[in-house]
Amino acid sequence: MARVGVLASGGGSNFQAIALHLAAQAGTSGAPHEVAVLVCDKASAYCLDRAAKLGIPAHVVTYVKGEREAAEAQMTSWLEQAGTDLVVLAGFMRILTPFFVRRWRGKLINIHPSLLPRHPGAHGLEDSYDSGDTELGITVHWVDEGVDTGEVIEQRSFARHAKMSLEEAEFRIHQLEHEIYPAVVKRLLDR
Ligand code: GRF
Repeated sequence: MARVGVLASGGGSNFQAIALHLAAQAGTSGAPHEVAVLVCDKASAYCLDRAAKLGIPAHVVTYVKGEREAAEAQMTSWLEQAGTDLVVLAGFMRILTPFFVRRWRGKLINIHPSLLPRHPGAHGLEDSYDSGDTELGITVHWVDEGVDTGEVIEQRSFARHAKMSLEEAEFRIHQLEHEIYPAVVKRLLDR
């Protein structure tokens, strides 16, 4: 049994997709795995409601200005208490310091809504859309000390048709994320 800790800031649709996928796979192939804990940095975020419905323990971390490492130490302590083998960033909107990245190196992954190295940063999807790229997509990658610079684990893309709205692009990106991210997490846990 391997355990996942998810860090999220918002809706948590990826968090939910991963939790449900691991739960559904538990009785089938390979060893069972689970999402053991959610850590969120926003007390009003919907991912916390999802955690409650799924019965997954959740914590809200407080970031005090200029004291990112203190928040990260608190997160690490929760993740360790939950026996976390893999930390999964799923819409976590904070930049992690080298302190946290070093502690979890090789056990820390992220999903980004663009085809990295194109359009890193907080607005990957909007930047991809505005750039007029004809291919849109997602990247799952290891996290290193940079912003969206870690080694790529998997990328998927789709062709953008001429009249595709931002909303449609967003919908397609989320669909792809919910299909690919849970599968990548499961694969990494099975290694
Ligand atoms: C996803 O689009 C992900 O690529 C980005 O943040 C978004 C999170 O969405 N990093 P959700 O909270 O999982 O619904």
